[in-house]
Amino acid sequence: MSNLERFTVSMDQRLLKQFDELNKKKGYANRSESIRDLIRERLVSERWEFPSKTAHAAATVTIVYDPHTSDLSENLNHLQHDQGDLVVSTLHVHLGHHSCLETIVLRGTANEVKRLADRLIALKGVKHGKAVLTVEGEDLP
Ligand code: NI
Repeated sequence: MSNLERFTVSMDQRLLKQFDELNKKKGYANRSESIRDLIRERLVSERWEFPSKTAHAAATVTIVYDPHTSDLSENLNHLQHDQGDLVVSTLHVHLGHHSCLETIVLRGTANEVKRLADRLIALKGVKHGKAVLTVEGEDLP
C-alpha cells in the first residue's frame, strides 16, 4: 500500500473491546483493515444520500415475488426494457412454484440508478426488495 499514513484514535476501552470482538467474529486480520472498510462504507453511503446526475455508479437490486401476481412479470419486464441502457444483467432463479428471485445489475449515473432501483422495488407484488448501491470504485483507495 502506497502513501500509508498512521494516526492515533482514542476511545473508551469497552467500545474498543466490542470492536475487537466484532472484528474477530467477522474474520478481519487486524483493526486497520476493518477501519478502512468502515470509512469506505461511510464514503459510499454519503454519495448515495444525494445521488449525482453526472457521477457513475453501480447497484444490484434483489427482489422476491410471486410470478402469478397479475401484471407483475410484465411490468418488471417492461421497466427493464424501457431502461435498457441502465440494466447490465439480470439473474432469475425459480425458488418455488409461487416464488421467484431476481437480481438486476444496474450501471449509470447515480441518480438514474437510484430512481430505477426504487421503482423496481416499489412494483406492486414485490414481496421483498433490497438495493445495494455502490460505486465503480476507481477513485476509492
Ligand atoms: Ni421464476
